[in-house]
Amino acid sequence: MDQKKFYITTPIYYPSDKLHIGHTYCTVATDVLARYHRLLGEDVMFLTGTDEHGQKIEDKAKEAGVTPKEFVDRIVEGPRGVVDLWKLMNISNDRFIRTTDGYHVQSVQRIFKKLHENGDIYKGTYKGKYCKPCESFWTESQLVDGKCPDCGREVQAAEEEAYFFRLSKYAGRIRDLLENTDFLEPRSRVHEMVRNFIDPGLEDLCVSRTSFSWGVPVDFDPGHVVYVWVDALSNYITALGYENDRYHDYEQGWWPGVNIVGKEIVRFHSIIWPAMLMSLGEPVPKKCFGHGWLLLDGGKMSKSKGNVVDPYILAEQFGVDALRFFLMRTFPFGSDGNFSNELLIQTINTDLANDLGNLVSRTTAMAGKYFGNALPAGCGTWKEPLSFDKELQELAGGLRDRYAAEMDHFAPHKALEEIFKVIQRANKYIDENTPWALAKDMEQNGPRLAHVLYNLLEAARICGILLTPFMPESTEKLFAQIGAGEEARTWDSAARWGALPETAAVLKGENLFPRVDMDKAMEELEAAVEAARQAESGVELEPQLTEKVDFDTFCKSDFRVVKVKACEAVKKSEKLLKFILDDGTGVDRQILSGIHKWYEPEDLVGKTLVAIVNLPPRKMMGHESNGMLISAVHKEKGEEALHLLMVDDAIPAGAKLC
Ligand code: MSP
Repeated sequence: MDQKKFYITTPIYYPSDKLHIGHTYCTVATDVLARYHRLLGEDVMFLTGTDEHGQKIEDKAKEAGVTPKEFVDRIVEGPRGVVDLWKLMNISNDRFIRTTDGYHVQSVQRIFKKLHENGDIYKGTYKGKYCKPCESFWTESQLVDGKCPDCGREVQAAEEEAYFFRLSKYAGRIRDLLENTDFLEPRSRVHEMVRNFIDPGLEDLCVSRTSFSWGVPVDFDPGHVVYVWVDALSNYITALGYENDRYHDYEQGWWPGVNIVGKEIVRFHSIIWPAMLMSLGEPVPKKCFGHGWLLLDGGKMSKSKGNVVDPYILAEQFGVDALRFFLMRTFPFGSDGNFSNELLIQTINTDLANDLGNLVSRTTAMAGKYFGNALPAGCGTWKEPLSFDKELQELAGGLRDRYAAEMDHFAPHKALEEIFKVIQRANKYIDENTPWALAKDMEQNGPRLAHVLYNLLEAARICGILLTPFMPESTEKLFAQIGAGEEARTWDSAARWGALPETAAVLKGENLFPRVDMDKAMEELEAAVEAARQAESGVELEPQLTEKVDFDTFCKSDFRVVKVKACEAVKKSEKLLKFILDDGTGVDRQILSGIHKWYEPEDLVGKTLVAIVNLPPRKMMGHESNGMLISAVHKEKGEEALHLLMVDDAIPAGAKLC
């Protein structure tokens, strides 16, 4: 029999800003599902990539002084870019598409031409509202309080010659697809789509632009570029070789696939994309699942909150598997959830360190201590199983199918809930059997103790198999510790209690999930966030002094406003400038300052500055300095930077600072 083909995709990321934990959530979830289907023995193709055209990228590249291609190359393939992040997060995509890849561009041109030739794309005049950040056109009636219904930002009036796609023609078929099939999930998304877009009447969609050029050119009408969503959505089939020779998977039956997407792009995936496919005469996706958003403090994640939710920082601090697990365990997949670092640490401590980590470390430690790392033959069965033996065996034995039912319904959080019921039951089983008490009389109780430990290893093994899609690296370590070889790690064996050889070599290894100290971790996280912020801006600041100075001591420093009457470079010195200053006393004050690197003397004459005037006099290169000018200092890209403190010229010389 042919191996079942399973094609799953995650939205291709728009590389205008850096990725945050919300994007990571979406891609990790898709990866977990892809790995689950591989575990089932299916032939899986998992696609991800980047969506690289559009006005926003053109604008950002201009701002950065580079070409759009250079701009996206850096964010996609540069250090700590998209490709690096997915590697770090252990994303097992089989293919990575960039919409700037030549084969994709060519396919999009052919798709656009096909839609045009079959009469579903026509030329007209676009009048409406455009949301630049979302790259979306809206009609007046779709706006919410006059603003973009997706992001709530201002929209601009726009009018230009453009091509339109006859979306209206497909309204009936799309309604049918949404209402009468289980194409779109969860069901709540169907109601949203029908209420917001289908019921008010589907309007034709503007699918080309002439006001910028960073896009796929319409080859039969120069000056037009293909609307970025038509370009982006096509990736799901161009990456399989649709209308190109780069790949040949489309005709080999990989499509239709499963599209996992975030809720704000469900409209594109459940209305526009199926309509495009209908127009092309191609099958619509098997499934579109619209997951919820991770929120930060109840609101959207944004660039300004960037480093707080930088997946690099979180993965480096807490471990990739712990982060993947947390994302899937904590937030019901179809709904929004509030992300916080405290919640992340709590989840690691409760589920991973306490429940799973303890089960594995206690069991393997006892196997080592009481049996020298291999349980005796025969330990897998017990003549008269006790009620809790049976309970554990039945709960763990039936876990695989309960888990599969949840995974098949895109509910990884519920699948994990099922696993943790077994883990908790197993920990209770340790307390019920008090192995340490049994161990006091090994001659009498040795066989029973071996059986208890075998049952625990079996429970850990089955949970380990089912946790593999979530934590691929940690489960490898778990298997090595409990002695589960390849044949005891398979999907089939997860439903077979007793698949672990009785005398498997058990090796207590490193603690799989050490406890995290909340206060210490939060402090370290703050420091990492600050370091990332500084590295990004290139600015390094001196740490603030923690030692306190009492108020009276502070008041002893006399800071005054001074005006520069004259300034010259000190001969034979590269650094020093000599200032003659009006300090309001009527007597000129001379101060020397080592700031020539940053200022030319003639530029400073007439400036109003600040000086401390009661420092003891000091000789520098034979000149006396009576005080010190105050500057702001920091480092920028590793270089010392200095700015003299200049104040309002209206302030009279001699004014005291307090
Ligand atoms: N480029 C489009 C997708 C084109 S697919 C043909 C896009 N890119 S995106 O970078 O803005 O978003 C990528 C994915 O990340 C989307 O599924 C989006 O919903 C998801 N997320 C972005 N922020 C998110 C959260 N805060 N929480 C969960 N997922 C979110 O849209």
